[in-house]
Amino acid sequence: MAAETQATTRGATRLAAATLPIPPAGAARQYSGPLYPYVPGPNPPGPPNHPYPQPPQHSSPGLPYPKAKAAVAAERAARELTEFRIDTVGFSSSSVGWTKVAIVTGGASGIGEAAARLFASSGVTVVIADMQDALGEAVAASAGCTYMRCDITDEAQVEATVGAVVSAHGRLDVMLSNAGVLLPTGSVMDMDLAELDRVMAVNFRGAAACVKHAARAMVSPNGPRGGAIVCTASVASLQGGFGPASYTASKHAVLGLVRAAAGELGRHGVRVNCVSPSGVATPMSCALMGIGPEELEAMTVPGNVLQGKVLRAEDVAEAALFLASDQAGFINCHNLVVDGATTVVNPAVLHAVGL
Ligand SMILES: NC(=O)c1ccc[n+]([C@@H]2O[C@H](COP(=O)([O-])OP(=O)(O)OC[C@H]3O[C@@H](n4cnc5c(N)ncnc54)[C@H](O)[C@@H]3O)[C@@H](O)[C@H]2O)c1
Repeated sequence: MAAETQATTRGATRLAAATLPIPPAGAARQYSGPLYPYVPGPNPPGPPNHPYPQPPQHSSPGLPYPKAKAAVAAERAARELTEFRIDTVGFSSSSVGWTKVAIVTGGASGIGEAAARLFASSGVTVVIADMQDALGEAVAASAGCTYMRCDITDEAQVEATVGAVVSAHGRLDVMLSNAGVLLPTGSVMDMDLAELDRVMAVNFRGAAACVKHAARAMVSPNGPRGGAIVCTASVASLQGGFGPASYTASKHAVLGLVRAAAGELGRHGVRVNCVSPSGVATPMSCALMGIGPEELEAMTVPGNVLQGKVLRAEDVAEAALFLASDQAGFINCHNLVVDGATTVVNPAVLHAVGL
C-alpha cells in the first residue's frame, strides 16, 4: 500500500509522523548531497595513535556493585570535582582506575556516528564496528575512537571484533548494536523475499550475533561482572505502517531478541535494552526517500505530536548513552521510545475532539 493511501486511512496528519515514509514504487533514488554538519562537543584527548591502547590496570573486573552509602557518596563527590559529565552519564570511573569500553556497530554514519562521538566525549573507550572503512576511520580519528571493519551478518567477524576488543582493553562493558538497513521492499504483495532476507540478515541476525558475543564477553564465570547491551530498534518495533514489512518485521524481531536476552542475562548482571526512535534524517532515511535531510524533516515534522523540536541523531544517541550508563543501572528489558509521543497519541483524534 502506498504511503499516501495509508495516510488517508490513518488520518492525514499522521502521515508526517510516520517516521520513515514509504516512498512511491521505484523511488529509491540515492541521495548524495550533504547531511547536517555534525558539530561535536568538546572531546577529551583521544587514545594514543595505535589501534588499541593498552588496557588500563585495574583490580575491579566490571561494573561497580553496591557499596556502603558513605563510600558511594565520597566516591561521587571526588568524581564530581574532577570529571566532565560524570554526574550525568556515570561512565568514567577514576576511583577504580578504568574507563568503560564500548563497541558501536554502524558507528560510521547517522545515529551510530552520533553515539560514538557522544560516548567518546563522555569518557568511554569506543570501538566503531562498521563496513564503511573510509567513513569509519574518519569518524574514529575525529572522535577519539578506534575503527574496526566488521560485517555483522558474518558471525565470525562479530566474534573476532569482540575478541579483539577484549584482548586490547581487558573487557567489554557496552555493546550498542545499532547497524541496520532499510531497503525499499515495497508493498507486502510485491515483497522481494531475497530483499527480505537481506534486511533480516543485518537488522535481526546481525543484532543477534552482537548480543550473543557481547554477552559471552560480559558474563563472568566468577559471578556477576555485568555490562549493558543496547539495540537500536525503531518505532517500527511496536507498530506497523512506519516502514516496509521487511523492516517492521526485523525491528519487531529485535525487540523480541532484547526481551529474551534481558530475561536470560539478568542473573549475570547484564542489562539488555532497546532505543526506538521515530524518523531521523540520516543517510539511510534520506537514501530511501531520495531526498535531502531538510526536505525529509520538512515532510515529517508537521505531523509530529511534539512540536518545537526536530528529532536528530544526537537525541537518539543521548537515549542510548543513558541506557548504557550506570544511571540506568536497574533498567532492563526496556524499549525506550524516542518519538515525541507519535506511537501513543493520534493527532487526528486530538484534532477531532477539539484539543
Ligand atoms: N534514521 C531513522 O529514521 C531511523 C529510525 C528508527 C531506527 N533507525 C535505526 O537506527 C539504526 C542506524 O540507522 P541510521 O539511520 O543511522 O542509518 P545509517 O545508514 O546512517 O547508518 C547505518 C550504519 O550501519 C552500517 N551497516 C549496515 N550494514 C552493516 C553490516 N552488515 N555490518 C556492519 N555495519 C553495517 C552502515 O555502514 C552505516 O554506517 C538502524 O538500526 C536503523 O534501523 C533509524
